[in-house]
Amino acid sequence: MNIAILGGTGKEGAGLARRWALAGHSIIIGSRDRERAKAKAAELREITRKMPIMGESNMEAAKLGAVVVLALPASGLATTLPEVSDACRDKVVISTVVALAFGGPRLYTPPPAGSSAEEAQGLLPGAKVVAAFHHIAAHELAETDHPIECDLLLCGDDQAAKDTVAEFGRSMGLRPIDVGPLSNAGLLEGITAVLATINRRYKLKNSGIKITGL
Ligand SMILES: NC(=O)c1ccc[n+]([C@@H]2O[C@H](COP(=O)([O-])OP(=O)(O)OC[C@H]3O[C@@H](n4cnc5c(N)ncnc54)[C@H](OP(=O)(O)O)[C@@H]3O)[C@@H](O)[C@H]2O)c1
Repeated sequence: MNIAILGGTGKEGAGLARRWALAGHSIIIGSRDRERAKAKAAELREITRKMPIMGESNMEAAKLGAVVVLALPASGLATTLPEVSDACRDKVVISTVVALAFGGPRLYTPPPAGSSAEEAQGLLPGAKVVAAFHHIAAHELAETDHPIECDLLLCGDDQAAKDTVAEFGRSMGLRPIDVGPLSNAGLLEGITAVLATINRRYKLKNSGIKITGL
């Protein structure tokens, strides 16, 4: 399937692109700068030895993707999403976004909408937003020589959209776990701040989360 990754020039988006390309999906890296997207796509084709990775503006990527992934900083949602809103209509949109503020007094403050995923849903009213992949560290995504030892926690209001995202998770070896409606996204996003704190405390780059008892 065609997966567009807005902000795919960054660590998280590029890591997702690597795993999905290896799983056989076609990737469109999106960027505010088309040339930067093309350069990142060429780099990822070289690393993965997979051809179907291309680079485009965020707008073109959103048009071309059957599914659209948001891999942007939270501060970029309000400026990026209005212009891609039509292109995302009726599509599954995966939000990986977490409003982390490194170096400030608080690592994580929930956005006024409750979560970045709900903010994205408000800016993309025609899309089916699913919050997922927040707990899969970019470092871990990039280490494609071994499977990822984490569960994929996801939430959203559209069951078919969640099933699609669960399948994308399985395609990169993750066990998907449905964590309910999109109103739970703030809880998932907050866990990323916990993992970032664990990484700092224990000098790791890739702490993750696995649910027991299932
Ligand atoms: N890194 C991780 O391990 C990790 C783990 C879980 C979740 N996340 C979340 O995933 C998202 C992406 O993380 P990342 O580490 O890849 O972030 P990043 O490298 O800071 O940003 C990703 C891309 O977003 C674009 N961008 C930057 N500022 C922007 C703005 N103001 N408006 C629009 N686009 C902007 C840039 O691409 P262009 O300049 O090419 O447009 C950049 O390459 C974040 O919300 C983060 O919290 C990250």
